[in-house]
Amino acid sequence: MSARLLAGPPAAAALLVEARRRAALLGRVPELHVIRLGDDPASLSYVTLKNRRAQEVGLGSTVHALPEATSQAELAALIARLNADPAVSGLLVQLPLPGHIDSAVILEAVSPDKDVDGFHPVNVGRLWSGSPGLSPCTPAGILALLEYYQIPVSGQHAVIVGRSTIVGKPLAALLLGRDATVTLVHSRTPDLGSFTRQADLLLVAVGRPHLISPEMVKPGAAVVDVGINRVGVSSSGKAKLAGDVHPDVMEVAAALTPVPGGVGPMTVAQLIMNTVLAAERMQAGQAIGQTIEQPGTAVQR
Ligand code: GUN
Repeated sequence: MSARLLAGPPAAAALLVEARRRAALLGRVPELHVIRLGDDPASLSYVTLKNRRAQEVGLGSTVHALPEATSQAELAALIARLNADPAVSGLLVQLPLPGHIDSAVILEAVSPDKDVDGFHPVNVGRLWSGSPGLSPCTPAGILALLEYYQIPVSGQHAVIVGRSTIVGKPLAALLLGRDATVTLVHSRTPDLGSFTRQADLLLVAVGRPHLISPEMVKPGAAVVDVGINRVGVSSSGKAKLAGDVHPDVMEVAAALTPVPGGVGPMTVAQLIMNTVLAAERMQAGQAIGQTIEQPGTAVQR
């Protein structure tokens, strides 16, 4: 057997088409603002990509490139100004931040209504309580990918490997919200294979190249590989990338996301969709800054 490949680009393109369609229905062009400090090459290339995708779908996009030595107070002042600017729909601060800045304080300074990364504790709380809000881009993008390829989620046993704040934990909340049975394991879980072999849907985000071998996968499972590990340099000088899932898993799984070209493109597409969602909520007066009544909490049993 050879797994069906769940390629990211067509699913990301579909999400971007939907974002463009919805943005065009709004009274004003949604604007994404990205703040970046210093000149870390990886951050620079991520931010460039975010900016380009936003412009491709007709969104406004501004990058605030600040010097590495920017103080926490200066950064907070810029965030406060952008929070208060009604033209700004989405705002994110590219991580990692330099060591003299307290990232937790900065992430909490971003208005939850504009927090297109979904990292603000208010949005984390909304996600876990089933209230509308903005969800982190990689996990939300994974759900969009599964939906695009019509991979069943409801009633399936989803096993997540990795407990990060950015991927593993929010992914668990989103999958629970779609009625999956969720098991969350991580790098310190003894006998990982005894858990991963139970998965109908196996999602791996630990950052260890080829951690998941074919023996750890149930035949016929759908496997989502979130890992992007640099494992050397190819003869053409490009970084060689490996996922967290061994390529031989292709022979056991029914479906598998490739690395690169799987989950990666979904993250940026979801960021664009989150910017449109934030603009829609602001226009409809549903952003929390404007809400009088709190939205009802969905009951999950
Ligand atoms: N750095 C690496 N990934 C991310 C992300 O998803 N959001 C932000 N803001 N910074 C990052």
